[in-house]
Amino acid sequence: MKVKKIELYNFRNYKQSTILFNDGLNVIEGVNAQGKTNLIEAIYFCAVGKSFRASREKEVINWDNDIAKIKITIEKEIGEKTIEIIFSKSQKKTIKVDGLPILKIGELLGELNAVFFAPDELRLIKESPEDRRRFMDISLSQTYKDYFYAISKYNKLLQGRNKCIKTYAETDGLKAMINVYNLQMADLCLKIKTYRENFINNVNPYAKLVHEYITSKKESIDLQYLGIEENNVKDIISAFEATFEKDIKLGYTSYGVHRDDIKVLVNDVDVRAFGSQGQQRTCALSIKLAELEIIKQTTKAVPVLLLDDVLSELDDKRKLKLLKFCAKAQTFLTCTEFNFDVPCNKIEIKNGEIKKNN
Ligand SMILES: Nc1ncnc2c1ncn2[C@@H]1O[C@H](COP(=O)(O)OP(=O)(O)OP(=O)(O)O)[C@@H](O)[C@H]1O
Ligand SMILES: [Mg+2]
Repeated sequence: MKVKKIELYNFRNYKQSTILFNDGLNVIEGVNAQGKTNLIEAIYFCAVGKSFRASREKEVINWDNDIAKIKITIEKEIGEKTIEIIFSKSQKKTIKVDGLPILKIGELLGELNAVFFAPDELRLIKESPEDRRRFMDISLSQTYKDYFYAISKYNKLLQGRNKCIKTYAETDGLKAMINVYNLQMADLCLKIKTYRENFINNVNPYAKLVHEYITSKKESIDLQYLGIEENNVKDIISAFEATFEKDIKLGYTSYGVHRDDIKVLVNDVDVRAFGSQGQQRTCALSIKLAELEIIKQTTKAVPVLLLDDVLSELDDKRKLKLLKFCAKAQTFLTCTEFNFDVPCNKIEIKNGEIKKNN
């Protein structure tokens, strides 16, 4: 899977630009605040249907305009495809695949698969379990539509269940209502757990290989899925029922896959609690690069690799190793200065304009 071209129109600080990419390493170079991350964000948007940073989508529309557009041309085994996203200040965004509007994000997922990494992705290790669940959700949703629909439905039911607990806490009918939720959520819980468990078990050996490679075999990583223990729907329903009183006291649902986590160990020690900043960063990077392998295996196509500002974070030895790894996929890498002797397409960005694209 390759991105051949992107056309941006009033997207953040880009007025109107067309950028061509090569099949290997594309280096997006420029001093601070010129639009490098904006370009990565535009590619990511076409893959996932949302931004990795804008909390409000309309933020991406150029301040002086009301409509913005991203159009991307991708090359797949079956031929070329286009993805177009049109943002409007007054309307919901429209997504088109090959010119035809799609109704649900689920229809976009899988068209362009991307693995994104930036220094902020360190939160995958450092921050709350929510960040680690988001990692599994985004990756699995790109590869399995079934998963995407399951997690979307589960989250809606969870919201409903929580609202029910709060609104009807004092009423007689609550237990019956909650039982209906339990039945529907139990099936989804089992499905989501199975997907996540398999995913982590598959990522683990690759993360180990990449991590050994980057650390020159000095360290060894190990991932463990920490999820619900029950392995069948009946037991999951019982577990939901067992926490009923507790949930009412707490005012929310305390059992379910929305509490899942991943444990990351380095040389058998929990890296979240005890790892150095550099160890945590290397772990996050290894996990992300392993994700690339897993998506490749599952979809039989290599996803594109989006690396925002990652070089500045690594020592020279690790930088070179990372660049070598990039040869596995079409890569988009932003940096302020690129002085490595590796073949690449350099794209120089200045104030939202392309100064050089060769
Ligand atoms: N909606 C918008 N309209 C116009 N300009 C915007 C919009 N959103 C962001 N910008 C501007 O885009 C500029 C470039 O942002 P970007 O994050 O891409 O920079 P960068 O080249 O990645 O810089 P750095 O090297 O610091 O990471 C910022 O200065 C910001 O003010
Ligand atoms: Mg940036």
